[in-house]
Amino acid sequence: MTIQDILAPENWLSASGGPRYVQLRRRLERAISDGDLPPGTPLPPEREIANMTTLSRVTVRKAVQPLVAEGLIVQRRGSGSVIATPVTKVEQSLSRLTSFTEDMARRGMAVDSTWLERGVFMPSPEEVMTLGLASDDSVSRVSRLRLAGGVPLAIERASISTRLLPNPLMVESSLYEALDKLGNRPVRAVQRISAANLNGADAALLEVEEGIAGLKIARISYLDSGKVVEFTQSIYRGDAYDFVAELQLPRNKT
Ligand code: GLP
Repeated sequence: MTIQDILAPENWLSASGGPRYVQLRRRLERAISDGDLPPGTPLPPEREIANMTTLSRVTVRKAVQPLVAEGLIVQRRGSGSVIATPVTKVEQSLSRLTSFTEDMARRGMAVDSTWLERGVFMPSPEEVMTLGLASDDSVSRVSRLRLAGGVPLAIERASISTRLLPNPLMVESSLYEALDKLGNRPVRAVQRISAANLNGADAALLEVEEGIAGLKIARISYLDSGKVVEFTQSIYRGDAYDFVAELQLPRNKT
C-alpha cells in the first residue's frame, strides 16, 4: 500500500467517525502497527498530508503530534519525519557488574558501536579527581554510541587512566574485554542514575525526539586493589531501559 492509498480519505474518513484528527491519527496508528508504514518510512510534509487527506494543516498537526509524543513518529530537524524503529525494553539488573556487550549477548542481541571519540587526552579536573590522577597523568577516552539489534540505546563516554589503558585503540568492540586482557577488569562499581531530558545532539544520535526523558548514568568502577579504573558517563534512552534492583530486608541483628 502506498502512502497515497493509506491517506486517501475515501479509504477511512467518515462523517460519523468522530473528530477528523482522531480518525487520521487512528489511520496512521493502524498503518504503523500493520506494517504498511514500516520503520524508517519518511512521512510526507504536513502540507502534502493536508492535500492528500483534504484536511487542514492544523487538523493534520493535531493528528500527528500525539504519535510523535508516543514515539511512533520521529521528527528530525531539517530532514522531515520518519516512522520510528520500535525498541524492545531491556531489563537491566542493578546488582551485577556486567558490560554492555555481555548484557546484550545474554539477550541474544547483536551489538554495534559508532565511535564518537577514541584517543589520549589531558584530563579534565573532574577526571583528575574521579580517577585519582597525578598532575602529569593522561587519560584514554572512549566514547561510543551503542546499538543493539541496530537500534541506538545509549551514548557512553568512558575515561580510563593511561596507566591502566595505555592505548584506547586496544578497545575494539568491548572496553571490559580490553581491560580484562590487561588484567585491569573492574570488580566493583558505584553507579548513579538520574533523570535527564535529552538535548538536541544526544537525541539526534539516539534517534529520538529532543527533550524526551532519558537516564543519565555515571559509573565509577574499581580494581580489586581499590583503585578507580573507569569513570563512564552515559545517556540511555528512557524508553528502552528498565533498571531493576532486588531489595531485601536487613538481617535482624542479634
Ligand atoms: C556498561 C557500563 C559502562 C561500561 C560498559 C562496558 O554499559 N554502563 O560503564 O563502560 O558497560 O561495555 P563494553 O565492555 O561492552 O564496552
